[in-house]
Amino acid sequence: MNDIAKEGLVAVEAISAHVPFHALSHQVLADATGQDPDKFHRGLGCSRMAICHPTQDAVTMAADAGETLLERWKVDPDDIGMLIVATESGVDWAKPIAIYIHQMLGISPNCRIFDVQHACFGASAALAMSVGWIRSGMSGGKKAMVIATDIARYEVGSAGEPTQGAGAVAMVVGEGSGGVLFPDFSSQAIYARNVMDFWRPGFCNSALVNGKYSVECYLKALSETYAHYRRSGGESYRQLKYLLFHFPFTRIGWKALVMMADVEAQISGDVASEEELLGIYDEKVKPGTTGAREIGNVYCASLYLALASLLEAEKDCAAGEKIGMFSYGSGSCAEFFTAMVGSRREIWEGKIGLLGGISRRENIDYETYLDFRKHSARLYQDNSFRIGDVPLGNKLPPDAHHLFLGYRNMKRIYIPGPAMRVCLSRKIRTGALPPVE
Ligand code: COA
Repeated sequence: MNDIAKEGLVAVEAISAHVPFHALSHQVLADATGQDPDKFHRGLGCSRMAICHPTQDAVTMAADAGETLLERWKVDPDDIGMLIVATESGVDWAKPIAIYIHQMLGISPNCRIFDVQHACFGASAALAMSVGWIRSGMSGGKKAMVIATDIARYEVGSAGEPTQGAGAVAMVVGEGSGGVLFPDFSSQAIYARNVMDFWRPGFCNSALVNGKYSVECYLKALSETYAHYRRSGGESYRQLKYLLFHFPFTRIGWKALVMMADVEAQISGDVASEEELLGIYDEKVKPGTTGAREIGNVYCASLYLALASLLEAEKDCAAGEKIGMFSYGSGSCAEFFTAMVGSRREIWEGKIGLLGGISRRENIDYETYLDFRKHSARLYQDNSFRIGDVPLGNKLPPDAHHLFLGYRNMKRIYIPGPAMRVCLSRKIRTGALPPVE
């Protein structure tokens, strides 16, 4: 670990998650489609997946994660000097979704605003960029906000369907010793290769995926980055207290651990038995899987949802420990890096909002899931916006801060949601907002 990170000068100072209000259980999906629930529960390691209400999109989820962060961590929006949104659910080929979020959060105009895109790798690129921005002195004492937000959506009936999900994670990166996480990207364990494992042409609403090939590409990238990290002097996976992965589905964590053990055997001759690996999985990998098991794939946010899961589930054990993190984005780019968890767990206690977000949800039936999809597709047509018309308003998430109501004259229309209406102070700060175009 380099000196600045060791001294705790650049840190993730705050992290909060947004969990969509609605969920579809894999048991319901299996019953409705005549599939074996064990395939989902054991084969993929999934229990439920988050389903976005038609009025919720990558923008509203990101804004909700940002709202939670600003409120719970008492971050002043005027202190944010750079806002990066990492997403592969962009809504426009020119206008970044970050600029909607900039307005919704009431961040000062004196701020760099942009989206980054590289499939599920985007948030790690944004985090590394933010750490570098602060370390270089360019930030002038300001903080960076990184928000990872995505909707994982595949065709109905496809192999990818049970690995859907949605959500957002917001983080603030700044100088200061009182951080939650001190990431260290210095080993440069990065691997990039042009592959067609997963992509979404601009005219498609759902992703196209060569699923099994994407798992191969993921594991190949892990073996390359972990080998690079070890050869540049990094600790072995046994020495790292926890291992967090990009989790398109939870079961990939087991495949990833086996791959790391294989690489380790080649590098150091340390061979682990299957029984040993099962124990290591429970101890080091499983604590980071709650979000993926309950929410599904959240693309860019997936690795950071694993971080949120670990911090909430293992707050006593994780504090002060070194962890390994693997980020993979299809297409592809991947990085293996380490991070020190902050030593004072009281810093993040009660502020992340992941487990609370999971437990407050409403389960929907299969017909409602199909209805949500149908209405979401309708909102992507021009002049779909009708004043006073909230699609499926009877199922509106009661705690949404913002609602997407479709297009009017080729512009997206956002209005304050039920939670924003009762939140007077923020309403005043953001100028009451109706509607954002
Ligand atoms: N009980 C228990 N396990 C079962 C089962 C049952 N009844 N039926 C199948 N399984 C297991 C299979 O053995 C397999 O396990 P394994 O991979 O350890 O061998 C697993 O469930 C998946 O089933 P399988 O039929 O092999 O694959 P699939 O056609 O369902 O596709 C994905 C799986 C991940 C490729 C597919 O969900 C997908 O395309 N997802 C989107 C892309 C993605 O997530 N990529 C990851 C890298 S980014």
